[in-house]
Amino acid sequence: MSKTYTVAILGATGAVGYELLELLESRHFPLADLKLLASPRSAGQTLPFKGENITVAAVDENSFNNVDILLASAGGSTSRAWAHKAVDAGAVVIDNSSAFRMNPDVPLVVPEVNPDAVVKHKGIIANPNCTTILMAVAIYPLHQVKKIQRIVAATYQSASGAGAKAMAEVQAQASAILTGEKPPTDIFPYPLAFNLFPHNTPLNEMGYCEEEMKMVNETRKIFAAPDIRVTATCVRVPVLRAHSEAINLEFAEPFSADEAREILNKAPGVKVVEDWQANYFPMPVDATGRDEVLVGRIRQDISHPCGLELWLCGDQIRKGAALNAVQIAELLVEKNIVKPEPATVSR
Ligand code: A2P
Repeated sequence: MSKTYTVAILGATGAVGYELLELLESRHFPLADLKLLASPRSAGQTLPFKGENITVAAVDENSFNNVDILLASAGGSTSRAWAHKAVDAGAVVIDNSSAFRMNPDVPLVVPEVNPDAVVKHKGIIANPNCTTILMAVAIYPLHQVKKIQRIVAATYQSASGAGAKAMAEVQAQASAILTGEKPPTDIFPYPLAFNLFPHNTPLNEMGYCEEEMKMVNETRKIFAAPDIRVTATCVRVPVLRAHSEAINLEFAEPFSADEAREILNKAPGVKVVEDWQANYFPMPVDATGRDEVLVGRIRQDISHPCGLELWLCGDQIRKGAALNAVQIAELLVEKNIVKPEPATVSR
């Protein structure tokens, strides 16, 4: 009989948690048992899974007994509080927060790009930031053929990146504005409905926000390319759950748009969507609920002989978070390396 695993989801009641449940079911993950964990606020709530209702428990010291894989998606502070405890209890943690991503002991994995990085795990594996995952899936196939020297990205990020409450808030804002009321701003600092604003994460001394620096540093780590030059401008837009990105790539030598399109047509996790006659290209509504990163408008950069432009849309909750995490779990199963070595991730 094939092996089965006890999986726990920390953050089961959130936007990513909901998608994790759906993916474990639809992808037939080999489960022995499933534990749903969240904050004490959600204890006792039930969530549907495979036709049954599973009760959510408040995470505590005993939550990780007999857990093989913990899928953590409850924010950085919750991961910092519980991930090492889960590893000490014998689980491997696939962490969706930014808490451990840049820790040299922690592999940062996009299965289409660096699947072999999981092999070196010491108990914790990090899921990259959503904008980075989507970009990495779309541009790594090109980087494999001709090395990318520089990336200039502009993002158009959906409300889902800030969680389920943020998605509800943008809908409430839209209703309020349409009825002439003041839009609520409990989650976001400003109205996002009928508006947009630069990503509201803290800024560094160079004027870059955290989200932008994630794209810089995480891309370098995932590609194992510490010298690749990356710059980004991240913007929140009033879209519910799929991010879009405009990406300019500079190579050392010319890369024709046709050659790039041919490569991307065969690339894992990518779907080229281009109808130049109809001026139809990827849109967030088309990417919503889909596993692939939709890529289009692949064209020569008219300002640089070795430059390419492309546009992408990807479901932020799915490939940008939950699907990537489940794919990592599947890799661990496939490679039979679910059980971590003794915990040696620096704390
Ligand atoms: P809860 O619903 O009980 O607050 P989202 O990213 O969609 O906002 O979801 C965040 C998820 O993280 C939710 O499941 C939330 O649970 C969970 N969470 C937030 N804070 C904690 C915490 N301190 N301990 C455990 N789970 C938490």
